[in-house]
Amino acid sequence: MRLPVIIVNFKAYPEVLGHAGIELARTCSKVAEATGASIAIAPAMPDLAKIAGDFNLPVLSQHFDPVLPGSKTGWTPLMAVEEAGAVGTLLNHSERKMRLSDLKLAVQMCGEAGIEAVVCADTIDEAKKVARLHPEYVAIEPPDLIGGDISITTAKPEIVTDAVEAVRKVDSEIGVLCGAGVKSREDVRKALELGTVGVLLASGVVKAHDPHKALLDLAKGLTRS
Ligand code: G3P
Repeated sequence: MRLPVIIVNFKAYPEVLGHAGIELARTCSKVAEATGASIAIAPAMPDLAKIAGDFNLPVLSQHFDPVLPGSKTGWTPLMAVEEAGAVGTLLNHSERKMRLSDLKLAVQMCGEAGIEAVVCADTIDEAKKVARLHPEYVAIEPPDLIGGDISITTAKPEIVTDAVEAVRKVDSEIGVLCGAGVKSREDVRKALELGTVGVLLASGVVKAHDPHKALLDLAKGLTRS
């Protein structure tokens, strides 16, 4: 992913499953093209291959299971998301927590496959722990602010700066993202000022009355003007 970046996580919101997800991907692609902003998307798994094939945007999976391909009914091995066209993956989202041992394996698999891992952390302590696995990115997201109207950058800016510092101490190569309640260009700008390389967001775009307008505004936060 090109930095700084806005990652739009579609989650499993009904607004973006199936055809509507394709339409949101189109919107993201248009905004990226019009503004030059780096926008990556994490669509729902069943739509991943179609979206990765149709649009020129970095596509991430929302999760995968650190298992080898084979007799694994109902599981999603890394090869499945790779073959679908994902260039990265979210892992350990607060809505899809993983055991540390599984997460370790998943990050290792990503490293071997050249898939960028964005590992989420709910707290500073967890950010430190997951940084020791050396993913490309750590995303700090306090669960109590997820889906709300107050951005982490306003409600708890110190969590962002502390996460940046804590992760940097472990591995200065890791980029820190933040998320939860990010909804405006000011929120994005503040996230960058606090030392992050971008934001991870969902409802600010997925649930917006006009997702195109909302994302255009957010994208402006990546630039100085
Ligand atoms: O993965 C992004 C997310 O958890 C933040 O969600 O709706 O607060 O932007 P939201």
